[in-house]
Amino acid sequence: MVKEKILVIGASGQIGVELTLALRKIYGSSNVIASDLREENDLLKGSGPYVSLDVMNKEMLHVQVIRQNVTQIYLLAAILSATGEKNPNLAWHLNMQSLLNVLDIAREEKLHKVYWPSSIAVFGPTSPKHNCPQQTIIEPTTVYGISKYAGEFWCNYFSYRYGVDVRSLRYPGLISYKSAPGGGTTDYAIEIFQEAIDEKKYDCFLREDTYLPMMYMPDAIRATIELMEADKDKITVRTSYNLSGMSFSPMDIAAEIKKHIPEFSISYQTDYRQAIADSWPQSIDDSVARRDWGWKEEYNLERMTRDMMQNLNK
Ligand code: NAD
Ligand code: SER
Repeated sequence: MVKEKILVIGASGQIGVELTLALRKIYGSSNVIASDLREENDLLKGSGPYVSLDVMNKEMLHVQVIRQNVTQIYLLAAILSATGEKNPNLAWHLNMQSLLNVLDIAREEKLHKVYWPSSIAVFGPTSPKHNCPQQTIIEPTTVYGISKYAGEFWCNYFSYRYGVDVRSLRYPGLISYKSAPGGGTTDYAIEIFQEAIDEKKYDCFLREDTYLPMMYMPDAIRATIELMEADKDKITVRTSYNLSGMSFSPMDIAAEIKKHIPEFSISYQTDYRQAIADSWPQSIDDSVARRDWGWKEEYNLERMTRDMMQNLNK
């Protein structure tokens, strides 16, 4: 087996913490270097190497890649949809330049693989609302969605032009309890659990009937690793794969939480994030990922809610 040395950029974030821990289990603690602009997340401490790194500083990134003999990069640093709308220039700059820095270095240093996540946010109001296909009309209306769609084409370009083995998933909204979410429109589906346990009520910033594609973090981590470990000749999509787990509205998740906390109540006060959610599809067709590398989710709303409640109550 080829010896891999993996650099995770943005390792202290919502996905980064769990992905780093999962990669360390597979590749060995010392072979997975966590890095972030902010301090090391408590859950990572003592589990393997950590370096403080700004992905925008290309020279320093390049030095780290050479010095640590890095063979794969997982790039997770980004500004998400809701925060992006507050500072569009910053979101565009970080989301694009970080990717270009990583792709350039991957090409120069002949890295084995790169992982970079896209999002359901690439889709816009003109995309199909139900079972949105892999290839369809894509006209995003958020700066986050624009940056993800442009990023997908940079991945495709580096793959075909320079042979960089870069792989990507269009994650739905991700739900988890280990590390805090980073400013997305789907974050309500995480906040609702903590508020239900602490306050027995939640004031939701999306309308009750806002259906969105969602996924539980264990499924997202498994999908990422399965995609990265799939044989190269199975990967037919070099932009980014549609990926689906479940689809629900605030009303649905509130009803599921009520099964565990009968006195829980939800109220609704929408803000600017409603328009972002309304621009996205309600469900995703991920049949290409299922065909190419055998994707299948394990968690539905009921199973995820049970697991979230159990873990948060601990
Ligand atoms: P997050 O905001 O929780 O984590 C991002 C991390 O990147 C943070 O720890 C942050 O400190 C770090 N970072 C920011 N700027 C940096 C810089 N200049 N240099 C180094 N690190 C920097 O985000 P997340 O939810 O973990 O998302 C990770 C990736 O997955 C992003 O590309 C995001 O767009 C994508 N994604 C996430 C979701 C979701 O629901 N969480 C859904 C779709 C796609
Ligand atoms: N969960 C993300 C967001 O809401 C989707 O990419 O921004």
